[in-house]
Amino acid sequence: MEKYEKLEKVGEGTYGKVYKAKDKASGQLVALKKTRLEMGEEGVPPTALREVSLLQMLSQSLYIVRLLCVEHVDTNKNGGSKANLYLVFEYLDTDLKKFIDSHRKGPNPRPLPPSLIQSFLFQLCKGVAHCHSHGVLHRDLKPQNLLLDKEKGILKIADLGLGRAFTVPLKSYTHEIVTLWYRAPEVLLGSTHYSTAVDMWSVGCIFAEMVRRQALFPGDSEFQQLLHIFRLLGTPTEKQWPGVTSLRDWHVYPRWEPQNLERAVPSLSPEGVDLLSKMLKYDPAERISAKAAMDHPYFDSLDKSQF
Ligand SMILES: Nc1ncnc2c1ncn2[C@@H]1O[C@H](COP(=O)(O)OP(=O)(O)O)[C@@H](O)[C@H]1O
Ligand SMILES: [Mg+2]
Repeated sequence: MEKYEKLEKVGEGTYGKVYKAKDKASGQLVALKKTRLEMGEEGVPPTALREVSLLQMLSQSLYIVRLLCVEHVDTNKNGGSKANLYLVFEYLDTDLKKFIDSHRKGPNPRPLPPSLIQSFLFQLCKGVAHCHSHGVLHRDLKPQNLLLDKEKGILKIADLGLGRAFTVPLKSYTHEIVTLWYRAPEVLLGSTHYSTAVDMWSVGCIFAEMVRRQALFPGDSEFQQLLHIFRLLGTPTEKQWPGVTSLRDWHVYPRWEPQNLERAVPSLSPEGVDLLSKMLKYDPAERISAKAAMDHPYFDSLDKSQF
């Protein structure tokens, strides 16, 4: 790790701290992410190695944060040996959560420009389509996991796929509760074999949040999360979503009628509302795919050649 000059802490996530650092040789800014690595007797677990190579391959896309290299550091403390795996990523200015916050509060609150929302959403769909085409689900898409290059107007997906190599905690190491706001209803209802559609639900929630500058479904427990969703979209029925009442955690809920989605995103164009409604379909089989979303009329006014 002597190769890097550690600068400030830029983030604190599920597994540990993320530091901004400088590669001493090239002067390049990087993000150092320490992962907790369970060392078995055989050394680095093969699942972790597989995960890292997958990440390295996926990060060839411009819309996925680039993994530059991996540093494996052994430390010997009090006779016991500990291994740490550091992921070295390209450094980006900010994340979408901080960006939305700066538009909601502070000295200059203002909406995000509609053309920027359109561009960010397209790049997000492009990155998600790339992951899905390689058979990889993200499963934790949220504004904090989307990094931005403000200068160039580029959005990149971060925090990818580590869920399977490293254990998924319910709480972060600082005991912060892992957010449920972007979680698809089939996951909340205990469905066990879920699909790429779980990511598209999250994309829909993020789309709405860019428009509103406020989360669409800010639940603070799994139950409250479902109620937030049901109150806006109506309580799902077997007709709308075949099999829903047989899911593991299904209960009898109050029967809410669907509200007008336009009212939740007042400044969004009718095409935008239509795309959002397709991302927030209850039945995962009916939910729009990332690839199909990129062809939706909402993006007709976007110059796609720049991507
Ligand atoms: N490459 C990067 N450049 C700049 N900031 C980053 C980078 N990677 C992560 N961060 C910041 O650190 C936070 C946590 O990183 P993340 O990869 O999401 O880790 P975790 O798995 O702990 O959530 C992000 O929300 C972001 O603010
Ligand atoms: Mg994260």
